[in-house]
Amino acid sequence: TKYEYLIVGVKGEKQNVGLIQLNRPRAFNSLCSPLIAELCQAVEKFEMDDSIGAIVLTGSERVFAAGADIKEMQHREFPNVYKNDFLGSWDKLAKCRKPTIAAVNGYALGGGCEVAMMCDIIYAGEKASFGQPEINLGTIPGAGGTQRLVRAIGKSKAMELVLTGDKMSAAEAEKAGLVSKVFPVDQLVNESIKLAEKISSHSRVASMMCKDAVNTSFEVGLTEGLKFEKRLFHSTFATADRKEGMTAFLEKRPPKYTD
Ligand code: HXC
Repeated sequence: TKYEYLIVGVKGEKQNVGLIQLNRPRAFNSLCSPLIAELCQAVEKFEMDDSIGAIVLTGSERVFAAGADIKEMQHREFPNVYKNDFLGSWDKLAKCRKPTIAAVNGYALGGGCEVAMMCDIIYAGEKASFGQPEINLGTIPGAGGTQRLVRAIGKSKAMELVLTGDKMSAAEAEKAGLVSKVFPVDQLVNESIKLAEKISSHSRVASMMCKDAVNTSFEVGLTEGLKFEKRLFHSTFATADRKEGMTAFLEKRPPKYTD
């Protein structure tokens, strides 16, 4: 497939990592509708590709994504955005069932920060900055910025970012728990691919269940969440990978997963 706004490739020693690079340098990787459509398509392809175990999403060294495309939004009116469910399709990334890693160098602002937060893990480069500057444009975050950010960093910090439009540095984002690790700019993508390779080396079905169970903790109360987890845990006993994982451990050899 030829993409206009993405560079897409397969990475890793075992070619089991999907890499998607946002590539719209003229507009600071702002996320116009055709770019989002391509992103959804690329994610879906990797999701359906059995050889891929995890997906890394990145931008350039200067900018991850500077948000939704302000030019595209400038003249739109309510009936149009409502009827067409503007930004509705962005959910595709959040709904991806395989593990996803955002490798954020430079700006992740507005929709850019929201896209990063749709991923399961965020790694950042030292110069990354995160923010929800929609308030500066007379609007509000529209792709999860008021919901996922609170769950990631708590109410006070999320409110502060959303109400001021201020940016948060990579170091602050790591301290707040939005980002799990920070790397030098030029090592970020490689480190993210290494992480994705490690994830890909495990049982696919088990890692998808991990993701499903962790995400369920955001949706339901503790009793239901624990029940959901237990059901998935029990169901791993129906997989060959569970038996192989435990047998390999006891035989002191690396596992060979097949599910
Ligand atoms: C369209 C954008 C853009 C955007 C930057 N550009 N961000 N175009 N949509 N979101 C364009 C600029 O117009 C400019 O085009 C070029 O990219 C370079 O930007 P500069 O501002 O000149 O560069 P710099 O001074 O280095 O500042 C970089 C920046 C700043 C900090 C990223 O551009 C900025 O603050 N951008 C807006 C960020 C923002 O508000 N994002 C939220 C968008 S709303 P020209 O043609 O002049 O070279 C959003 C909410 C939607 O995401 C709801 C949820 C998805």
